Amino acid sequence: MPSVGIVVGDGKKEYPGKLTLYVTVTCIVAAMGGLIFGYDIGISGGVTTMDSFQQKFFPSVYEKQKKDHVSNQYCRFDSVSLTLFTSSLYLAALCSSIVASYVTRKFGRKISMLLGGVLFCTGALLNGFATAVWMLIVGRLLLGFGIGFTNQSVPLYLSEMAPYKFRGALNIGFQLSITIGILIANVLNFFFSKISGWGWRLSLGGAVVPALIITVGSLILPDTPNSMIERGQFKLAETKLRKIRGVDDVDDEINDLIVASEASKLVEHPWRNLLQRKYSNRPHLTMAILIPAFQQLTGINVIMFYAPVLFQTIGFGSDAALISAVVTGLVNVGATVVSIYGVDKWGRRFLFLEGGFQMLISQVAVAAAIGAKFGVDGNPGVLPKLYAIVVVLFICIYVAAFAWSWGPLGWLVPSEIFPLEIRSAAQSITVSMNMIFTFLIAQVFLMMLCHLKFGLFIFFAFFVVVMSMFVYFFLPETRGVPIEEMKQVWRSHWYWSKFVNA
Ligand code: BGC
Repeated sequence: MPSVGIVVGDGKKEYPGKLTLYVTVTCIVAAMGGLIFGYDIGISGGVTTMDSFQQKFFPSVYEKQKKDHVSNQYCRFDSVSLTLFTSSLYLAALCSSIVASYVTRKFGRKISMLLGGVLFCTGALLNGFATAVWMLIVGRLLLGFGIGFTNQSVPLYLSEMAPYKFRGALNIGFQLSITIGILIANVLNFFFSKISGWGWRLSLGGAVVPALIITVGSLILPDTPNSMIERGQFKLAETKLRKIRGVDDVDDEINDLIVASEASKLVEHPWRNLLQRKYSNRPHLTMAILIPAFQQLTGINVIMFYAPVLFQTIGFGSDAALISAVVTGLVNVGATVVSIYGVDKWGRRFLFLEGGFQMLISQVAVAAAIGAKFGVDGNPGVLPKLYAIVVVLFICIYVAAFAWSWGPLGWLVPSEIFPLEIRSAAQSITVSMNMIFTFLIAQVFLMMLCHLKFGLFIFFAFFVVVMSMFVYFFLPETRGVPIEEMKQVWRSHWYWSKFVNA
């Protein structure tokens, strides 16, 4: 295989190119694909606790909650049908990301984004106008199908478009959109919940706005040169790459893309290949599975889905609880910006390890604080305000840590480590794993809280230790390495080299 590109001192290649306005705007537009995912994460929990929503679609849940006076706070909120409603979306997303892998490879990244936007838009309309449970469910499935498509294609798109030195920052635009989506949704829920009777329609129907943004956005976006070459459009890819990089001399990069694409053409079955050691994909499959699983095992979605419930439990009134959820939402956005700043300077590993340490400390602190007041019987008596504030503070420290480590890196790292021939298939494994684990955690959290009590936070802390050790020993640094050159990183790794050099 010919080796092209400029080889610098340490054996890594460098391509000419700058951070052009064109690529920046393109990546910002594409990154907005994260808004729909974030909006849904932020909106569902609030809507399912709205009285009018429950009365209309889940009357038995409503009756039960009004009647029950549970003294054990750990077991207060527990309703399978509501959580199933919320998490059904994740199962749909899982299925569609597999279809998306085919569409993204055969028809390009932007078609997948477009499909994602259209499906999500249809789901949002169906939900906003829902008059029967079936409309809610079908709507939710459509939202899930949409998310499967966008989460599969957007991170890949960003990693391929970005000049490699800024890949981290541009890719994290996706996570930034997720966090902005969550925040906007939390704020909207706060106001819409005050409109009695039909506020929930605005919350659910409001999802058409982010959906339209990515639908229209995908129509005007160019496809990535990598994908054009993968589909045989060589001339077009070259012209585009010049515009994207803002330099005339893109020969080296184009040649490397062609080489990568030729290797890719030899692979007829990307899925089967993923399992083969000879294609040196052992580390890739491991990462495609473990990174998203670990991202969810940080326990972040316990906070994202249930923060208002949790804050009510520790003694806030319902307005104060919602406001605290907005505060954690702001921290989430702010800390993501920190990671945009640092990811290409300090590297991925530093952020992973620092974030892990910080999450561990705050989880242990939250467990201790809740354990001290709620004990094992979950009956805290009257809780002082200061207590609730301290708990919220530690939760903010935890959210900040996630937001500059596993949050963005959980999407960035998988999207930049796969070789072209398996990129699309491997990315859909990443999305599927993320969705399975989100589903599982959303589904069993309330039950786990009831049984593990404050130990639940220790449960997640344990996984944070495991994932940090995994990063320390097994995840090589990928900062500043061109995406089609990533194989070098595995070849020089103390453990993975045994497989990829074989
Ligand atoms: C995760 C979501 C999470 C969100 C929080 C994303 O990276 O995939 O599950 O809710 O970050 O900001």
